[in-house]
Amino acid sequence: MSKLNVNIDHVATIRQARQVDEPNPVWAAVECELAGASGVTLHLREDRRHIQDRDVELVHEVTGLKCNLEIALTDPMIRFALKLKPDMVTLVPEKREELTTEGGLDCIKLSKRLGNAVKKLNKARIKVSAFIVPQADQIQASCDTGCDAIELHTGMYANAKSDRQIAKTLRDIESARDYGLEQGLVVHAGHGLNYRNIGPVAALGGLTDFNIGHSIVSRSVFVGLRQAAKEMIALIEKNSPSN
Ligand code: PXP
Repeated sequence: MSKLNVNIDHVATIRQARQVDEPNPVWAAVECELAGASGVTLHLREDRRHIQDRDVELVHEVTGLKCNLEIALTDPMIRFALKLKPDMVTLVPEKREELTTEGGLDCIKLSKRLGNAVKKLNKARIKVSAFIVPQADQIQASCDTGCDAIELHTGMYANAKSDRQIAKTLRDIESARDYGLEQGLVVHAGHGLNYRNIGPVAALGGLTDFNIGHSIVSRSVFVGLRQAAKEMIALIEKNSPSN
């Protein structure tokens, strides 16, 4: 059964809009834990536009949730991760001007830097995932550089408009999942997933973790975060092939 890691970055986005102390991401993480989520995903961006260093430290310390730290492949971020020791680091590409993560990490171009980072993180017993587009060459490069896992970018699927595009992008995710599993990688998925489009992806099976943020935090405005996370977990469970 796939597990849900709730990305709570946008709880911090609301707080940072006023530079005050609410809403608190630690409280958000506890609500996710009470909902039955298995983890939280926190993207510590280089510009610190939402989640702050202290948030990550507190969430990791206070909750029993799996902590998936998303960071750019830079020396200061790797140093932060080595100090924090989260359960998993997901390496993502990052551009300052983007609204959210665009595209996947280019594991071919960055293979040397990626390989060095994986070695350091693994030595500290931190698992490493690379956020990549669902393409065989990127999966192969993630595997060659020693990554433990990959997170398949579901943005193309989420943005697909026609039935044909949706079917094609879903097939791309499915083939990428198969290729990743054949290479011995753990396969996650995320980006742009919501209450309307999660069903077909969850039904593929073989994807151990879903990292979902914006849609859950958006729904939480109306029903509360615990309920919003519960509803997403229920959809994942209902659509998983084991059910
Ligand atoms: N996975 C990765 C690697 C991301 O960068 C993000 C966005 O921060 C997510 C998942 C969550 O995406 P969304 O907020 O669209 O659910």
